[in-house]
Amino acid sequence: MIHFENVTKSFGERQILKGVDLEIERGKTTVIFGVSGGGKSTIIKHVVGLLKPDSGKITLDGTRIDNADEVTLRAIRTKVGFLFQNGALFDSMNIRENVAFPILEHQKLTPKELEYKIDEKITMVGLDPKVVKPLYPEELSGGMRKRVGLARTLALEPEVILYDEPTSGLDPVTSDFITQMICRLRDEIKMTSVLISHDIGESFKAGDYYAMLFDGVIVETGDKASFQSSSNDVVQQFIHARANGPIAFH
Ligand SMILES: Nc1ncnc2c1ncn2[C@@H]1O[C@H](COP(=O)(O)OP(=O)(O)O)[C@@H](O)[C@H]1O
Ligand SMILES: [Mg+2]
Repeated sequence: MIHFENVTKSFGERQILKGVDLEIERGKTTVIFGVSGGGKSTIIKHVVGLLKPDSGKITLDGTRIDNADEVTLRAIRTKVGFLFQNGALFDSMNIRENVAFPILEHQKLTPKELEYKIDEKITMVGLDPKVVKPLYPEELSGGMRKRVGLARTLALEPEVILYDEPTSGLDPVTSDFITQMICRLRDEIKMTSVLISHDIGESFKAGDYYAMLFDGVIVETGDKASFQSSSNDVVQQFIHARANGPIAFH
């Protein structure tokens, strides 16, 4: 569904992506592993056109993303939901307004349809719309904010969701809830997901396919079994060292 071909990207002098090849399959959850600062967020920002590659090709259902104009990008952004690393709710808007925001941007609904959709998405993430709609982000816990962020991402009924470290900093119960949501969306509505995560345990519960980013390239891909039994040292170190604390690759 999403295809990266030899994508490179530098920030200033530093080349972060050195020729990334990656295939995201429809209806599956693909996990991207890699060290902090390695370029995982950089990869997924390219999918919604927040970044443009220096070279290489990115397509979504065959449509070029890397050189898309604003009109095409707008269409892409209704298909691709992005759950940002730190939730990124608007602090000056209440929860209702936060969830309504993308809908108002992209769709024309009657007030009744709009309210129905807001309530539906808030309910989907396990919150009570009556209770949370009037609240402001600062009145919610980190876990609740993350759920609202997900409700807002779901509001446009995207075909793909990109999750950037969705469970980092969350309590185990909320982490588990988010992981289960990712699985449910795949199983119930065949959602395509891309998941970036430090949490190896959660990732191995959610993923169908895995890709390891190291030194600017994808060094290994595979399903869970093939990934776990990979003979690639980088993969083995990542999977095992994470359980015991930080790793040093350099
Ligand atoms: N917009 C930017 N401008 C300059 N440097 C950036 C920018 N975005 C990311 N970087 C740098 O690129 C590297 C990779 O970042 P990132 O993709 O966020 O890594 P990851 O998500 O794997 O932790 C980091 O060193 C980061 O500081
Ligand atoms: Mg990141």
